[in-house]
Amino acid sequence: MSLEQYYTEEGIGERLASMLPVMNPHECVELSAGEGALLLPIIRKWPNIKITTCELDPLNVSKLKSSFKGKHHNIDVLSDSFEKAFKGKLASFDFAVSNPPFSWRDTSEYDIAILETFGLRDLFPGSRIRSEVLFILQYLRLLAELACVAFILPEFIVCSAAFSKFRYRLLAFCNVVSIAEINSGAFKGTEAKTYILILKKGWSSESFIYTDTSGSSVKKQQKDFCVGLKQLHLDSLPYSDADEFSIKRGTLSGKECKSLGLPFFHTSGFHESATDVVSLQLRSGVITGKKVLTTTKGDILINRVGSRVVGRAVIVEDGQYLVSDCVFRVRLPSSVCSKTFLTFWMKEVFPNITLTARGTCAKYITINDVAAFLREFLKTITPSHTASTR
Ligand SMILES: C[S@@+](CC[C@H](N)C(=O)[O-])C[C@H]1O[C@@H](n2cnc3c(N)ncnc32)[C@H](O)[C@@H]1O
Repeated sequence: MSLEQYYTEEGIGERLASMLPVMNPHECVELSAGEGALLLPIIRKWPNIKITTCELDPLNVSKLKSSFKGKHHNIDVLSDSFEKAFKGKLASFDFAVSNPPFSWRDTSEYDIAILETFGLRDLFPGSRIRSEVLFILQYLRLLAELACVAFILPEFIVCSAAFSKFRYRLLAFCNVVSIAEINSGAFKGTEAKTYILILKKGWSSESFIYTDTSGSSVKKQQKDFCVGLKQLHLDSLPYSDADEFSIKRGTLSGKECKSLGLPFFHTSGFHESATDVVSLQLRSGVITGKKVLTTTKGDILINRVGSRVVGRAVIVEDGQYLVSDCVFRVRLPSSVCSKTFLTFWMKEVFPNITLTARGTCAKYITINDVAAFLREFLKTITPSHTASTR
């Protein structure tokens, strides 16, 4: 298991402490305390506060014991040990801080039980889940009503379209007090862009304060948190000709494609020409009086619909195929490498596609959903990820 031991720098801990609302907490808990960097500004602010920590790494636990009076558990907080350590202590802490591991993990039976406690299992049916999601939920279990927790979290969790449904559902249990953007590179060894997010359990407020890296603050609505703050305008824009990429949906049903006997791509994969069918120049664009969508080398094909296959994506390596109406064909600007996008899609979007997919029976995604992810991807790629050929 990756421990993700990137510790908080002092300035960020101070900034987090300065953002806290007026309160006088008695007991603070941190579930992945490292060496306690986030606790130092808390102790400075409230010298008499009781401290409880958890840490997987026994070396860190020794350091925590020598630096902070309190209870220090050497446990994996995403396991039954958490239940033993906090028996009788749920809903009792009046404050918490957290810089959790930024990582994917295999979804365990224990993780599923936590998700079910919050009625969120439907959002994460896959075999992988982000640790941050589980940490957020563990903190909500520990906090008393109206208690605050201050997180340091990656942009992916706070702003991405992939997690907007999770953020929306989270607001049933807590509301955002404030969010601040942290300059990227603030964490040694990680380039992840991060945010300070302060949540208050069982509280409801229309608005919160958002502060960007330049220090300017604006009022935002809780719904802006669901949509993703800065991505707000980009995400909510419908796909249009102004976008530098193209997303097109096929026109023929899978059945129609099959009956033509020509090579085609449907949610079930690539299908070659039926025997005895002379291969046509598919680029002609019109077959049996119907305008068709074709695909060639370098295109990305994303399944638009199907509960088990929605969001699955491939690159066309060779040949020409018709595209069925259950599939989107994506073409990126020529300077961008399709494989880099596919990696982003399969790693960051696909495992959580249920957060985006609509529909009760047959799950589906829309062109605008794909466009929002593409815009997010294009904003994050560095020149090293671009390519001269597709
Ligand atoms: C990103 S570091 C943050 C440390 C500290 N909170 C800070 O801000 O400097 C995450 C810490 O969580 C610990 N950790 C990772 N997974 C854990 C788990 N499942 N249970 C308890 N601790 C964990 C790691 O050993 C690491 O020290």
